[in-house]
Amino acid sequence: MILPIVAYGDPVLRKKTVEVEKDYPNLDGLIENMFETMYNAYGVGLAAPQIGLPIRLFVIDASPFADDEELSEDERRQLQDFKKVFINAKILEENGKEWAFNEGCLSIPNIREDVLRQDTVKIEYFDENFNKKVEEFTGRAARVIQHEYDHIEGVLFTDKLSGLKKRLLKGKLSNISKGKVKADYKMRFPEAKKGR
Ligand code: NI
Repeated sequence: MILPIVAYGDPVLRKKTVEVEKDYPNLDGLIENMFETMYNAYGVGLAAPQIGLPIRLFVIDASPFADDEELSEDERRQLQDFKKVFINAKILEENGKEWAFNEGCLSIPNIREDVLRQDTVKIEYFDENFNKKVEEFTGRAARVIQHEYDHIEGVLFTDKLSGLKKRLLKGKLSNISKGKVKADYKMRFPEAKKGR
């Protein structure tokens, strides 16, 4: 089932998230719906707050990146079958040089900006079967994880921009909250006028 994606300005995107219990009702169904919602919007990641749930869960399928010709063979292999569920994730370490990547977000349609983040991330999480993992990722795989992880911490990529960039985007962001934006997928806008 495709769920509406919550737009910028909704308080749920800023809420403190809680851990997911093993007996969370219909967790498998929720994960399935999140993947379906993400694919429908051509996203590579989706976090639970983006569908209105302040819980520590996000899903990623970064395989579309594997088609990028700029990538090294190693990175391509890493991304090729990168489809994962992250439950109760905790970033243990971030290392390496900061690099810029042009990020977007399904909650912030039609805005893309270069964001600086470190290259490597070591993360502890539980997969969809509640098996605990500790893994290290680099490059774009790390990038998508860092972006989605930020969502469960109430942080958006626009928070990471310079003061000037933020000021320049203010009007656009406020329009998104009001629903004055065109997205090709179902969204829920916090300040949309009734009847829109
Ligand atoms: Ni996002």
